Amino acid sequence: MNTTFALSSHLFAGKTAFITGGSSGINLAIAGAYAAHGARVAICGRTQARLDVAATQLRTYGGEVRAYQADVRDPQQLAQALQATRDELGTIDVLVCGAAGNFLAAAEDLSVNGFRTVVDIDLMGSFHAASLAFEQLRDSKGCILFITAAMASQPHAYQLHVGAAKAGIDNMMRNLALEWGCHGIRANSIMPGPIEDTEGLRRLSAGSALGKLADSIPLGRLGHVQDIAAAAVFLASPMAQYITGVVLAVDGGQCLAGSAHFNAGARAFLDEQARSKERGTPTVAARAAAH
Ligand code: HXC
Ligand code: NAP
Repeated sequence: MNTTFALSSHLFAGKTAFITGGSSGINLAIAGAYAAHGARVAICGRTQARLDVAATQLRTYGGEVRAYQADVRDPQQLAQALQATRDELGTIDVLVCGAAGNFLAAAEDLSVNGFRTVVDIDLMGSFHAASLAFEQLRDSKGCILFITAAMASQPHAYQLHVGAAKAGIDNMMRNLALEWGCHGIRANSIMPGPIEDTEGLRRLSAGSALGKLADSIPLGRLGHVQDIAAAAVFLASPMAQYITGVVLAVDGGQCLAGSAHFNAGARAFLDEQARSKERGTPTVAARAAAH
């Protein structure tokens, strides 16, 4: 992980960060960036093996790290992880709500449980984390970062469930910024664009469609996890002490170009998945994920 920015490596010295879904991808990069800047870091997720690998990686920065198995849909598990963090690493200063689930599904094919599952992980999971961490954040005058997506503000085909969940998160973020500002708690969202080499993107696009998506982005490339980590460092730092209630797009300008490229690529991807299923062969995405 290259998490070196031109900022003091002690920027978050004495601070504690808790990142839901922190064992992989964008959230792990955020955890790494906080650790690289001196924070004590706790992550949670459902898979112990992935948590262990991530914790080992995070410890290379030299600070204290904890990894707790907790499903964000289960408030009891999350409450235990948040309390253990306070006991073992100190009161939480920065909460990142990044755990999420996603898949492509046409609206008419989306089952009630499919819709509910994504809303439960993304929206309910973010609410559980924020509400259960309230006392710690009030005590530390800390901040919350929600990880949202372009689907929250602009319809993307086959992402009905994700759009509903992420829109709910952004609205909740603004409500919390309004209500908890008096406690010194800031709340903001980061809206990543398509980020290369992530599980999220592997589930949505592949092959030439991915190239076309990159070409449609004003800055001409997919994002890197470090682009998001840099924004997360800024928003949690004293440099952002007067910023609350905002959604920061970190997307190379993708939201300016609309969702048409995404929609066409996602259609092609769904069609390829259907054909692969008929043939009994793995999809491009599955092959890419295996490497
Ligand atoms: C249609 C699907 C489906 C698919 C699952 N479901 N996959 N429906 N198409 N491809 C349905 C199931 O049939 C079931 O409904 C319901 O969803 C729950 O499925 P489970 O597998 O039982 O759920 P669970 O084990 O809890 O797993 C949750 C999950 C899974 C979201 C389905 O994919 C997961 O664990 N994801 C975590 C990792 C992940 O998604 N990372 C990417 C985040 S990126 P029925 O009716 O059959 O019971 C992201 C990107 C945003 O969010 C934007 C990027 C640009
Ligand atoms: P990822 O690697 O799959 O990250 C999601 C993490 O959430 C995983 O570590 C996963 O670990 C955890 N998780 C899932 N369900 C959970 C649950 N119920 N309880 C606790 N943890 C859970 O995907 P990513 O692509 O990096 O995405 C990270 C964040 O960025 C998400 O919020 C996503 O919506 C957002 N985002 C991504 C992109 C992109 O291009 N990748 C674009 C816009 C927004 P376990 O499965 O082990 O639990």
